[in-house]
Amino acid sequence: ANQPTAEYNEQHRPQVHFSPPTQWMNDPNGMVYLDGEYHLFYQHYPDSNVWGPMHWGHAVSEDLVHWENLPIALYPDSLGWIFSGSAVVDHGNTSGLGEDGKDPLIAIFTYHNDKLEKEGRNDFQYQGIAYSNDRGRSWTKYAGNPVVPNTQPIRDFRDPKVIWDEERSRWLMVFAAQDHVMLWSSDNLIDWEHLSDFGTEIGAHGGVWECPDFFPIQVEGSEATKWVLLLSINPGGPNGGSATQYFVGEFDGTDFTLDPDFAEDLQNTEAIWLDYGRDNYAGVTWSDVPEADGRRIFIGWMSNWDYARDVPTTVWRSAMTVPRKLELHRVPEGLRVFSNPVRELTELRTVENTLRAGTFSESVALETIIDSGSDPISGAGHDAYELILEFELVGDDQLPFGVELANGQGETYRVGYDPARKEFFSDRTKSGKNDFSEKFAAEITRAPRLGDAKTLRMHLIFDRASAELFADGGATVITDIFFPTEQFDQISLFGEGSKLIGGSAYALSSIWAEPM
Ligand code: FRU
Repeated sequence: ANQPTAEYNEQHRPQVHFSPPTQWMNDPNGMVYLDGEYHLFYQHYPDSNVWGPMHWGHAVSEDLVHWENLPIALYPDSLGWIFSGSAVVDHGNTSGLGEDGKDPLIAIFTYHNDKLEKEGRNDFQYQGIAYSNDRGRSWTKYAGNPVVPNTQPIRDFRDPKVIWDEERSRWLMVFAAQDHVMLWSSDNLIDWEHLSDFGTEIGAHGGVWECPDFFPIQVEGSEATKWVLLLSINPGGPNGGSATQYFVGEFDGTDFTLDPDFAEDLQNTEAIWLDYGRDNYAGVTWSDVPEADGRRIFIGWMSNWDYARDVPTTVWRSAMTVPRKLELHRVPEGLRVFSNPVRELTELRTVENTLRAGTFSESVALETIIDSGSDPISGAGHDAYELILEFELVGDDQLPFGVELANGQGETYRVGYDPARKEFFSDRTKSGKNDFSEKFAAEITRAPRLGDAKTLRMHLIFDRASAELFADGGATVITDIFFPTEQFDQISLFGEGSKLIGGSAYALSSIWAEPM
């Protein structure tokens, strides 16, 4: 009776990002594609808007854009709370858990046993599985859990991500063990064998390692395939708190070894980050995306453990990033993972305006530009919009430039590029409510630019409470959230260190506007 109800229109409620109807959410879990549906599970505590005994919340989408909320998929049981993990289609029913020989869905997750932890034991996390024979609508825990007990033991022993290892025709599991990852293999998703460990002395170690993902990916424009290891760490991110680094290398079926060039890059910098923003954590990629499609599709939790529990929303807490396509590119700096919004998001574009060179010879309110399209959407307001801007760097002018959001309260948010520092930045220090946490807006988020092309591109997605910057074709990414006391309803370009060559502005329709 005391349950809050979701309107999907409360203050700060994202309109083009997934958020849970009510209560607490953290990591995305178990993303898998089956029979025309993208499944998204998530760390969820249905009894409170702060973290607690973890369940797997559940939603499905046909297009990665519009989501239908489903009942909770996994509840805690006598073995523990249900921490993060993954899901796969068990092609060929290797587990034998499929009904009538059909291929079941298998979820692989960490049990966190709160009681054992309180007893002071170190073996309170271990891996378990559950299966579904009805397209993820109902789940049964495997009777022989755990499938990977914590025998050493290691206190942080969690977040299994399973993929089918095509080359060796067997399952491969990666999970985090405090300051490294462990690789395991299996023929049936039930009996697991430890292969190797990676990472104790490699990369950033400012915090505990969590939520790895491990997959092969083709180097764009070549025949070569490399393996990428995504690895979230908390704290120790490039701009504070939680963030996701990655490694590029080779996998021989047993060991993951860094690509020699990538190893060299790590001599010069502590780590290479998937997203330099403060608000993209614990992200991993979808399993079983159809081969003809071939995309590596990623989604992350759009918050940060530095302040996730304190953000000024009550009905629900936190949202996911937009789904992103990952690509591996060879650039002058080395091998780098690029991220871009999935193409399906273009479905949301309602009003398009072409921006031309000279449009911004002076600072001009974009407000009019976004709203004045041929077909204004009723009531769409300024909830969400997308900008694709191309600038020419003007050699001798070193002033920062970019996009500013503002409201009638004098609150502002700025995202842009600082030529003098060769860095993109996101500045939420004056963006409104930010005193809920000392750590929220003390600093400006900064991200290095790759390359030195004269043409600089910024692809921006703004929602009520977030900005996502995909710069230079996805080479540099910043995701930051904010909470203006009144919605930002003015938008303008600032700075003079550049010339706008051209671009587009789009109003985006809410993903919650119509039923699926
Ligand atoms: C990452 C994380 C995971 C864990 C989950 C618990 O944000 O700490 O390591 O499985 O959250 O909710």
